[in-house]
Amino acid sequence: MSGDDTLVIALAKGRILTESLSLLSHAGIEPVEYPQGSRKLILDTALAQVRLVIVRAADVPTYVEYGGADAGVTGKDVLLEYGGQGLYEPLDLGIARCRLMVAGRPGANVAARRARVATKYVNITRRYFAGQGRQVELIKLYGSMELAPLVGLADFIVDLVDTGNTLKANGLAPIEHIVDVSSRLVVNRAAMKTKHRLIKPFLERMRRAVAASHRPAAAAPNTAR
Ligand code: ATP
Ligand code: PRP
Repeated sequence: MSGDDTLVIALAKGRILTESLSLLSHAGIEPVEYPQGSRKLILDTALAQVRLVIVRAADVPTYVEYGGADAGVTGKDVLLEYGGQGLYEPLDLGIARCRLMVAGRPGANVAARRARVATKYVNITRRYFAGQGRQVELIKLYGSMELAPLVGLADFIVDLVDTGNTLKANGLAPIEHIVDVSSRLVVNRAAMKTKHRLIKPFLERMRRAVAASHRPAAAAPNTAR
């Protein structure tokens, strides 16, 4: 779908979509129609040579690696779980910050025995425990990981933690920190060369948008006297 004169950007639907669109907007890329109010999966933008495609977060690396999109936005958790060498990752967008953690009942000891660990991040979890020489049994889930220790499905979970409210609401506690997570811009390696003319200015504008979004807002005039 993406000719040499078009830049296709894959965005993850779900919780990072709004912030991704906001950064793109600051980089001068505005969809003609907003995905939140539409069932369309390919969206034109005000720039004739830029199109957006809307996919699941976990599918962004696949679309970008195989050239279904030239670039994409998704979480570092998704990229680590996907693995592979096919993607260039030039920019940390600094949005959707959270941590990937081992969690369980307060005081539970992961090293105690061959623990069962429920997660949707089976590759990351396998690497993490193997790297520490600890043997665990993995149970693959697709969501609501916090339920697993409560019903005896697993001893621990590996999941994202931000405020910690989900763990707390379910009587669980963070136990070990695996990695910090934020959303990243990824680019297809071949497109980096063949579409350099489009990608270079796009990356530059995204870099500036990210830098501007991290700049502290100008102090409001002090009117309280
Ligand atoms: P799907 O709904 O397609 O199964 P998902 O549940 O992984 O996918 P989202 O919940 O939209 O998708 O999460 C997308 C990304 O947002 C995650 O990959 C992660 O990088 C980030 N994220 C998820 N939960 C949080 C959170 N609580 N705080 C901050 N960032 C988060
Ligand atoms: C994510 C994650 C945790 C929760 C952590 O779930 O899987 O359950 O956020 O955030 P907190 O520490 O601020 O509570 P999400 O809301 O994306 O739902 P999901 O289970 O469908 O992935």
